[in-house]
Amino acid sequence: MIKNSVRLPTVYNLIELDQVDSTNKVAKVYADKGEDVYPDGTIIWAKEQTEGRGRRGRTWHSPPGNLYISLILRPEIPLKRAGEFGFIASLALSDSLGTLSPAGHEIFCKWPNDILLNDKKVAGLLMESHTHPTLGGEHLDWLVLGIGVNIISHPEDTDFPATSLRFEQWSSTVEEALTGFSKSFLNWTNRWLNEGFEPVRKNWLWRAKGKGEPITVRLPNETISGRFIDLNEYGALVLETETGIETIHSGDVFFGQDR
Ligand code: BTN
Repeated sequence: MIKNSVRLPTVYNLIELDQVDSTNKVAKVYADKGEDVYPDGTIIWAKEQTEGRGRRGRTWHSPPGNLYISLILRPEIPLKRAGEFGFIASLALSDSLGTLSPAGHEIFCKWPNDILLNDKKVAGLLMESHTHPTLGGEHLDWLVLGIGVNIISHPEDTDFPATSLRFEQWSSTVEEALTGFSKSFLNWTNRWLNEGFEPVRKNWLWRAKGKGEPITVRLPNETISGRFIDLNEYGALVLETETGIETIHSGDVFFGQDR
């Protein structure tokens, strides 16, 4: 284990590891050990993953040189509000990449929790949670936010095209991305604590790719096309389709009508 090669705000408890199977797997084991040992704000950071995981059971390309972190959070909120943290993290990621970005690059949020750089995916988020057994399973015990940012490499064989900072000619480092993300995540979490989800929802919508335009959403058993009109109060995607309004809770978004 290497200790403290970056300085983060003191609310975080940073654990640096060289190689793990998946930082989310490690974070879930640690989260279960309780908040005395691994408090809210613990970040597991690995230099490389051998079994990095993405949403919907996909593999996450995880060689050395990219950012792989999982945050352990212990917010006192009902399970149905857990998704709000995906949008807080998306804003923090887009802030940190925006600060590092040379002029002329476009950064957008893509529903639910991806970040696009010049219309290709540069970062993704995998959120996993556990509910409190003594509170009837409705309240969160812990939440793990796993974040991957392609800094020096990206996969070529993805359904949605991917990129990395290096491919787009930026010279930023993993350390800069982690420091920027952690500061901005703290700011947005404080805003959320004071003002609730609404400013997060509004800011995410301002930065969203495809708002007001035709999009296609792939669900496990069907594909729905429509106009992306809103994000509801729980972070679900609101689509206006030929047959009416559809509210979508999970799926893969593609831009344009016929994907
Ligand atoms: C996605 O867009 O599909 C989500 C990708 C999440 C990848 C990160 S890398 C750190 C953490 N550990 C994992 O195994 N996955 C997440």
